[in-house]
Amino acid sequence: MTTMIILSIETSCDETAISIVRADGDFPDATYTLLGNALFSQIDIHREFGGVFPNVAKREHIKTIVPMYEKALHEANLPSAGIFETTEEKREALSTLLFREEGLADALIASLQKSGIPPIDLIAVTNGPGLEPALWVGVNFAKALALLLDIPVVPTNHMDGHVMSSLFDGEKIPTVTFPALALLISGGHTEMVLMRDFNTYALVGQTRDDAIGEAFDKVARMIGLPYPGGPEIGKLANEAREKNIPEYAKLPQPMINSKDFDFSFSGLKTAVRTVVEKKELTGDDKRALARDFEDAVTAVLVKKVSGAIEEHGIATLILGGGVTANEYIRTAFKQLTEQEFRDVSLYIPDRALSTDNSIMIALAGHARIKDALSPTAAQSLRADGNRSIHAA
Ligand code: KG4
Ligand code: ZN
Repeated sequence: MTTMIILSIETSCDETAISIVRADGDFPDATYTLLGNALFSQIDIHREFGGVFPNVAKREHIKTIVPMYEKALHEANLPSAGIFETTEEKREALSTLLFREEGLADALIASLQKSGIPPIDLIAVTNGPGLEPALWVGVNFAKALALLLDIPVVPTNHMDGHVMSSLFDGEKIPTVTFPALALLISGGHTEMVLMRDFNTYALVGQTRDDAIGEAFDKVARMIGLPYPGGPEIGKLANEAREKNIPEYAKLPQPMINSKDFDFSFSGLKTAVRTVVEKKELTGDDKRALARDFEDAVTAVLVKKVSGAIEEHGIATLILGGGVTANEYIRTAFKQLTEQEFRDVSLYIPDRALSTDNSIMIALAGHARIKDALSPTAAQSLRADGNRSIHAA
């Protein structure tokens, strides 16, 4: 049995995350052990600006990535694989590679000199999709480690990671019956993809404008809630349900009856804006509006997924992405598979693994080990902000 220590890196948006995961066996039968996990959320920084500015995110990733690397390794407590030494030539290559990431080359060298060579067999890094300036920090950090330590790198798709997050039971990837449908709902994406096997994705439908998480965040902002708005809307909506506050606004359920599997959320967002601009909202108005919005979004998701399940004879439904942390949406899909589609197995990520993390990147990297690049080939790896899950 092959055992492999994977170091995974995620910097696609506003989370700087590094994990050390041991994989015993080959994908999909491997057993995974989380040895070290470090995640720094930049939320407090972005809250001041009301959203994520890519260059602010980049600056924060540069500051935090070495501390996260050290934290994950420290937690893993693995014996060092030797004293770290480098050559003048490698140092020069490193400063060229990291010339836009000010201070990172020195911080990394100092860290390696302090803690020695980490016993890592593979580096998995998110190279897209996401905010390009943010992605580049993780990609360049992976390239730097590959260059200095001679370790292969597997470029990983962030959305693939969300799929793995959903399936992962803390130890293994379960046996999945295909075809599976993955509904990916996050701050940057809203798409349904058909999986005939692991790592093979075909697009079924996607948003024509805003991503669903983006709609949550924008609506939250309109009613004066802090970034990220998703969880805040969820809280208010739950309060409205508990208090039985009547409907505040009749909101549209965009494209709910269209024959395709596409989505659109910008009209819904505009409808909320129109309502908000009409009059000053009381606390209960806000609660009711948050609930009305959540209801509209959930109705559309459930309807579209139901149609896709029927159309494609789906056996497994996988929900992935940050918006799956939403309680109401989770419950709606549990009900759907318990009542209407009893033969469909449902996977929803553990709430802690719903939003961005690096554990999912280790899993997705291991699943695609055949795409691993040699340390030399890895030097031409690029970040791709628009990398899609279904074209690759
Ligand atoms: O997957 P993710 O962490 O990052 C991206 O890849 O985009 O998703 C972040 C998105 C944000 O828009 C956030 O508001 C939303 O997920 N989100 C939620 C909840 N928790 C996070 N939306 C609704 N309800 C939640 N509880
Ligand atoms: Zn994500």
